[in-house]
Amino acid sequence: MKKEIVNELKTRFPALSRNEGTARAIAAAFAMQRDPTVKEIAAVKTAVSEAVTNSIDHGYRDREGFVEMTLRLFSDGTLAVHIKDKGAGIENVGEAMRPTFTTAPAEEEHSGLGFTIMESFTDKLRVRSAVGRGTDVYMEIKLKGKLPPDTEDTRDA
Ligand SMILES: Nc1ncnc2c1ncn2[C@@H]1O[C@H](COP(=O)(O)OP(=O)(O)OP(=O)(O)O)[C@@H](O)[C@H]1O
Ligand SMILES: [Mg+2]
Repeated sequence: MKKEIVNELKTRFPALSRNEGTARAIAAAFAMQRDPTVKEIAAVKTAVSEAVTNSIDHGYRDREGFVEMTLRLFSDGTLAVHIKDKGAGIENVGEAMRPTFTTAPAEEEHSGLGFTIMESFTDKLRVRSAVGRGTDVYMEIKLKGKLPPDTEDTRDA
């Protein structure tokens, strides 16, 4: 069955640390329409938090800029989260995604586990980046919600 978009929300905010919590709360609120489980909401918040923190801390490390977050809900319950920045970009995405790889200075509390965490909390993760142009993180999380097993899903959102 081809999935259809049933709802969409776009936000754009300056790369300030305090906006990480705002983005996480917006994504969680958007996901609520699907009556998610506590575990699903935790996954949404964690994945968004890691991606947005990366844009703020690494993408815009030495510059100002904006982060764009687009949320889409599909008819089959898939939540798609797209987080984009126009910051520094990543030289080697494969290397950056390896557990414990970090370019952050030792005095900062970065353990190089953000992408690993995103991977474990999502059903799909795709990272595109170009040095000097920015980074684009696309994630999908399947929201199955609280319907009991073997119940036909007749929800339209
Ligand atoms: N949006 C981004 N812009 C530029 N570089 C990025 C971006 N996201 C990730 N990176 C690069 O990829 C590396 C790995 O990211 P990852 O989130 O896995 O770890 P971290 O942010 O260094 O540490 P942690 O997430 O554990 O705090 C970063 O150190 C940084 O070099
Ligand atoms: Mg990180």
